[in-house]
Amino acid sequence: MNKKQKIQTKILSWYAKNKRDLPWRKTTDPYKILISEVMLQQTQVDRVIPYYERWLKQFPDFKSLAKAEKAMLLQHWSGLGYNNRALRLQQLAQIITERYHNKMPENEEALLALPGIGPYTAHAILAFAFNKEVPVLDTNIRRVLIHELKLKENTEPERLRKIAKEIIPKNKSRIWHNALMDYGALIVTAKKTGIASLSKQSKFEGSPRQVRGAIIRLLLKEKKLSLKRIQKEFPHPQLKTIVEKMEKEGMVNFNKDRIQLRN
Ligand code: ADE
Repeated sequence: MNKKQKIQTKILSWYAKNKRDLPWRKTTDPYKILISEVMLQQTQVDRVIPYYERWLKQFPDFKSLAKAEKAMLLQHWSGLGYNNRALRLQQLAQIITERYHNKMPENEEALLALPGIGPYTAHAILAFAFNKEVPVLDTNIRRVLIHELKLKENTEPERLRKIAKEIIPKNKSRIWHNALMDYGALIVTAKKTGIASLSKQSKFEGSPRQVRGAIIRLLLKEKKLSLKRIQKEFPHPQLKTIVEKMEKEGMVNFNKDRIQLRN
């Protein structure tokens, strides 16, 4: 067994015996996965469970969420914080019912174009709902990978994503990422390892619109940027596409890897 296989075996066999019984693990319904992931972005697992159950009873699918009254949404979200997220979930549900025949798209690009979906959430949906081999990198998983693979804490996000993708066992993305989350929450904890959590989870998050705003602010400050420089500040899988779009729209000049605001 090589090093990679050893780590995979260790974590998967630990998980087989020690996994947490969490409600969103009993489903692969992309709608339910989405709701769990958005709730879990801001709130601890134990506190999310009753919210998650209540929400699904009231809004069991995209259709019911799309036509719900706003007051009802907020009532069921209340206590989780960031009420905006409930409203964005409804906008998303409306798009899914109107444009996607009630089916969540299964590709990253389409997911990222939906309201409230950043790279983390897109990958979580792809892995947990569709078992796709994309890296899910939340604070826990990042810590486990750094610890088990003896990586530097300041490993570039892009490199970490590459490593995280390569270590996903074939056809086991869903179970692998659940196992990593539990292993990080229960065994390789922040307290035990001293590995700091990312100061801002938002470093991995951000809709294309947020990334565009961030790029423009950076350009106002620094005048000229390379893609690499932006990638370092705002890691995003679609960065080049985003900048190319900004160029097409006449917002920036983009040539020879030099990006400048257009006058
Ligand atoms: N935090 C975010 N997603 C999670 C999941 N699927 N299971 C446990 N904790 C999580």
